[in-house]
Amino acid sequence: MNKQQLVQQFEEKYGDSKRQLRVFNAPGRVNLIGEHLDYNGGYVLPAALEFGTTLVIRERDDDVISLASTNLPHEADVRISENFGGKSGQWTDYPVGVMVELDKLGCRLTKGYDLLYHGDIPNGAGLSSSASIEVVTAYALLSMEGRDTDTVEIAKLSQRAENQFVGVNSGIMDQFAVANGRKDHAILLMCDTLRYELVPFQTGRYKIVIANTNKRRGLVDSKYNERRGECDRALEMLQKELPALQFLAQLTPEQFATLQDSITDETVRRRARHVVEENQRVLDSVEALKNNDLDAFGRYMNQSHDSLRYLYEVTGDELDAMVEEFQREPGTLGARMTGAGFGGCTVALVHEDHVEKVTQEVGKHYEARTGLKPDFYVCGVGQGVHEVKEAL
Ligand code: GLA
Repeated sequence: MNKQQLVQQFEEKYGDSKRQLRVFNAPGRVNLIGEHLDYNGGYVLPAALEFGTTLVIRERDDDVISLASTNLPHEADVRISENFGGKSGQWTDYPVGVMVELDKLGCRLTKGYDLLYHGDIPNGAGLSSSASIEVVTAYALLSMEGRDTDTVEIAKLSQRAENQFVGVNSGIMDQFAVANGRKDHAILLMCDTLRYELVPFQTGRYKIVIANTNKRRGLVDSKYNERRGECDRALEMLQKELPALQFLAQLTPEQFATLQDSITDETVRRRARHVVEENQRVLDSVEALKNNDLDAFGRYMNQSHDSLRYLYEVTGDELDAMVEEFQREPGTLGARMTGAGFGGCTVALVHEDHVEKVTQEVGKHYEARTGLKPDFYVCGVGQGVHEVKEAL
């Protein structure tokens, strides 16, 4: 849907008015490498996507915030004077959580607004549709109120909305990437300090191909929390030897080799090893990108998947089948799962001359192996949250 059609839908829903309409957009994200590192204080390398959530917003005369979407069922009217009501268990919890966080920061909204969202990120695929709703809401409301729109602060408050209001214990990576992405760049983010560097992502004739396994991601939250717990246990055991250690990802692979026996549980030791080695892989991948060595970058992607499969154990049959099928195809430099795991999407780098053949072949074999029909997205790197200013 283009901007004009969306504005038309907005006016059909909320009526015509002389007040100014503004349109904002926040992308989804794909993580290129550095998985399950954000909550371990390590490096991640996500990139913003070219699809995301667009929001049309207009001021009202009362103190109602009206929330609706073109692609998600459920609508809500909440009042500023009633502290936006409580949780509903619906998608509207994302924007409401953001408003609650803005309030806590002393940014109480001074007026009501009508909001219409349109998302073109597949929901539940692990491409951060929820982070993109949160970030676009924060950015749009702060802009409408004439406040500062610092995108690092927006990422932080959006993460708090997700953790505290929605109740999902995610790290900072998704909101950060959605808020701070830059076209044709990957973001090297140090999750401990939130210092970051935009790394040109020049892949020449190689394309990012995202594949949705379309596996229902039922266990994601509980397994995600289980992994976080295992990392906490590894850290506690290591701290007995190294009290100054604050995050697992602070350990170098060499330090880990000498200290690993202090982790008595074999499973927990494997989780920690993934964290330490994956962190080093992110740095090596960035080096490869800077040297234009895409072959090496592809190899690191493959190694990352293996580590998530055998050490961290967050892949599962569908993600493994998809990645194996990509890796088999000529023209593919590398492939790995992306996001939390247990379903969701994979990301691969595929030569443009092969994309059509590769997606056909992978689709066919993946379906034969799993009984599921996958979806493919050939995607460029898009822009972080912004106002859509081009004329109607
Ligand atoms: C999910 C979480 C992120 C991150 C990834 C794993 O996407 O929202 O914070 O932990 O999983 O890398």
